Amino acid sequence: MISTSILKLQNDSEKIKIINNSETDMIHFDVMDGIFVSNTTRYDKLPFLTKPVDIHLMVEDVRTYVDKFMYLKPNSITFHLEVHDDINKIISYIKEKKIKVGIAIKPETKVEELLPYLDQIDLVLVMTVSPGAGGQPFMKEMIPKVKELRKLQQKHHFQIEVDGGINDKTIKLCDADIYVVGSYITNSDYPNKIIKHLKSI
Ligand code: DX5
Ligand code: ZN
Repeated sequence: MISTSILKLQNDSEKIKIINNSETDMIHFDVMDGIFVSNTTRYDKLPFLTKPVDIHLMVEDVRTYVDKFMYLKPNSITFHLEVHDDINKIISYIKEKKIKVGIAIKPETKVEELLPYLDQIDLVLVMTVSPGAGGQPFMKEMIPKVKELRKLQQKHHFQIEVDGGINDKTIKLCDADIYVVGSYITNSDYPNKIIKHLKSI
C-alpha cells in the first residue's frame, strides 16, 4: 500500500486535493513540534480529506497532539518510541479513541526495544531517514530491521510501514506492508501517474 506524505505541500491545498483524489491508499500526515524534531509543521487551508489519514506524530507531547488532530478522523496515529513519556499510557489513550495505534522508531533505535509493546499495537513504522524532513536519501542499513519485523509478524499482528527516501528503486529493497512516499510523488507534476507506477511494482 502507498501512503502519500503531504509534508512538502503544507501551503498547497490545491495539490493536497489532487493527492486526495488520486489512487493513493492513504494520506500520511506528518506532524512536527520543533521539540522532538527541530522543524515544525503548519498545514494552511487543509482541504477535506476523504482518504484514510495516517498520522505520524514527531512530537514530545503525544496526547496533546492526538487531541489536536482528532478532527481529521484518523485511521491510525503513530508516535515515536523515543518520547519521554509512558508508552503504555499513550497506547491506551489512542486505543480508547478507537483509532489504530502505531509506534515509529528512529534509525538509531533497535527493533528489540519494541518487543514489550508488539502485542498491543497495530503498526510499526521504521524510519528509513532521520525524522524531521522530506527529501533525504533512503538508509539501506535499515533493511535488516524490516526483515526482523517480518519474522516477528508470525507471533504478533501488526503492519510494517517504512518512511523516508522511498522511490521506484528503494521500494524494491524492503518488503513492507505500507510505503510512505513523500517528495518522489509530490515533486512530480503527475503525482497519480507516479502512484500508479509505485503500486504496480
Ligand atoms: C520525515 C517524514 C516523512 C517524509 C517522507 O520525517 O516522516 O514522512 O515526508 O518524505 P520523503 O519520501 O521525501 O523522504
Ligand atoms: Zn512520516
